[in-house]
Amino acid sequence: MLLSQILHLHDIDSIVLERKSRSYVLGRIRAGVLEQGTVDMLHRAGVGDRLSREGMVHQGIGIAFDNVLHNIDVHGLTNGKVVTVYGQTEITHDLYAARDAAGGVIIDSADDVALHGVDSDAPYATYTREGKTHRIDCTFIAGCDGFHGVSRKSIPQRVLTEYHLSYPFGWLGVLSETPPVSDEVIYASHPRGFALCSMRHSMLSRYYIQVPSDDLVDNWSDEAFWAEFKHRLPQSLAAKLVTGPSIEKSIAPLRAFVADNLNYGRLFLAGDAGHIVPPTGAKGLNLAVSDIHYLSAALIEYYGSAGEDGLKQYSAKALDRIWKTVRFSLFCTRLLHDFPDHSAFEKRIQQADLNYMLCSQAAMASFAESYVGLPY
Ligand code: DHB
Repeated sequence: MLLSQILHLHDIDSIVLERKSRSYVLGRIRAGVLEQGTVDMLHRAGVGDRLSREGMVHQGIGIAFDNVLHNIDVHGLTNGKVVTVYGQTEITHDLYAARDAAGGVIIDSADDVALHGVDSDAPYATYTREGKTHRIDCTFIAGCDGFHGVSRKSIPQRVLTEYHLSYPFGWLGVLSETPPVSDEVIYASHPRGFALCSMRHSMLSRYYIQVPSDDLVDNWSDEAFWAEFKHRLPQSLAAKLVTGPSIEKSIAPLRAFVADNLNYGRLFLAGDAGHIVPPTGAKGLNLAVSDIHYLSAALIEYYGSAGEDGLKQYSAKALDRIWKTVRFSLFCTRLLHDFPDHSAFEKRIQQADLNYMLCSQAAMASFAESYVGLPY
């Protein structure tokens, strides 16, 4: 949607194929912490007005462990950079509004999408909708269809290397119409597992706890969630927590995945189609946006008759930033979670990592630099 909107601003036509219905897409609860670069991109795409009004600017984050809440002054450590809390669902909403206003073509409920001739000069996509088969001829295909989408599967295995890593735990997330326990996002490390305090706005809290991979949402009543969540926070914070009924509850697995490379012929992968990061550090959406930064620039260059060099460099450029961001997401995950199979020695090293980070300006600055987002 973002790519389509940016291309439109440069008079380049596109068609968006979406497998789900619009109401499904706009009902999904997704991430919510935006890097400065993401915010800048949304402004450049002309969809930044509501974000400016309603987004919550955060200058720092909290790190809690050993019953103490520490602050990392992200703003001070990065020469004034910040992150903005604004739900991904709201961004999607704003993008639909912008595309609709400009007469953009978004085909929803498109089934059986298949890509053809991606390594030729005349690629096309087919799909079925309401029982009829359709064909779209195009110049390029941007595969922005997520990890399970058809795009990556259209690249022959012999030219694709896939790197996978999985963790033995996931995040149980709860959304509740309660005031957030803190103005800042708080990452809590506890011997019973990680916990995260986040928010969407002043009366909507988003909280998570680490749970084993094979755990089920049905095992967690609201009461059980709140009790475990409070247990993992410093007492001073737990005492302030306002609880209420959950309006959404789900478990997300933690894993990492990178496809190398992101280009085959006229097909370019972006976002989760090409890479997945564990959620710690909130990089998934931001990485998708930085991919679109590189891909849109290369397409605009191509249509401005500057040739295909930019498109040829897309994969390498995007992957350089992707791997650095995967590194950061894994670092945050290792730093803050309980690893059931870690030895006592490894657990002490993890504590030393936390203690080191919170007493070293250099380590905190390095963390903050990645947290606000590496430059494009
Ligand atoms: C949120 C998600 C994250 O992965 C994170 O690191 C911080 C906040 C959220 O959903 O608000």
